[in-house]
Amino acid sequence: MRSRKLFLRTVKRSLKGKEKKQKRKEEQVKLAASQVLVDAANALEDPMSLVVPFKKYDRNGLTVSIDCHKMPECTRDTVDWALSLLSTNMKSLYKQSSWGWKEREKREEITDDRVLLLVARGEDQNPVGFVHFRFDMDFDDEVLYCYEIQLVEEVRRKGLGKFLIQILEMLAYQTQMKKVMLTVFKHNKEANSFFVNQLKYEIDETSPSIYDPMNPEDYDYEILSKPIKKKKTIAAKSE
Ligand SMILES: CC(C)(COP(=O)(O)OP(=O)(O)OC[C@H]1O[C@@H](n2cnc3c(N)ncnc32)[C@H](O)[C@@H]1OP(=O)(O)O)[C@@H](O)C(=O)NCCC(=O)NCCS
Repeated sequence: MRSRKLFLRTVKRSLKGKEKKQKRKEEQVKLAASQVLVDAANALEDPMSLVVPFKKYDRNGLTVSIDCHKMPECTRDTVDWALSLLSTNMKSLYKQSSWGWKEREKREEITDDRVLLLVARGEDQNPVGFVHFRFDMDFDDEVLYCYEIQLVEEVRRKGLGKFLIQILEMLAYQTQMKKVMLTVFKHNKEANSFFVNQLKYEIDETSPSIYDPMNPEDYDYEILSKPIKKKKTIAAKSE
């Protein structure tokens, strides 16, 4: 009797072990597939070639052309201009946060090899806004992460910000990313209104207010995201 019990327990344990192993294997396969998508997106020579009609914005008295620059090839002038705009727009908001303003870290962040910059230029070819984004893994998900969206004051509230974020969403769709993500300071009321009320971004499951809801005062930022509809591949269409 005792040996039968022991036998059953051993069988059960072995089945559980097999299930766990199978689950681990499935997770590894999923992770590898996600990484393949991120690598393919990063290998694109010019992501804007996927959304050519959106290379021009001509509305509300604003005529702007939009190009994508991959960081190692981006000119020093463009990087310096972007950092200077970032400082003008965000320095005081950073200073109000626990992060503080660290110019050197910002330069390192924006000159990383994985950086993609959308640069919007007016008719005189002067830059008026930029978006810093990356295709990356976030935990186990393939995502398009928007690190920055910054416009000069004169071109705001003319729909350009919304247009640039829509470009990111289309790029995420075309490259089969799972979601578009971004980080926003809670005290940046305008940006929160822009993303949450206007663009319908929601608090991401990885945001501190979800994983640590009892201590909201410990965090001065929120992680927002929008899920991206799955693109139908040729195989899926013919099913
Ligand atoms: C946030 C930002 C990118 C928005 O770009 P924008 O071109 O001005 O925004 P849009 O014209 O596309 O606005 C679309 C809608 O978003 C909302 N919105 C935009 N800016 C807003 C603001 N300052 N206050 C409240 N709502 C705002 C409005 O509903 C607006 O529609 P409306 O103008 O018809 O009312 C831009 O204001 C900016 O560069 N701000 C400084 C930098 C910054 O905070 N970046 C975000 C960091 S996370």
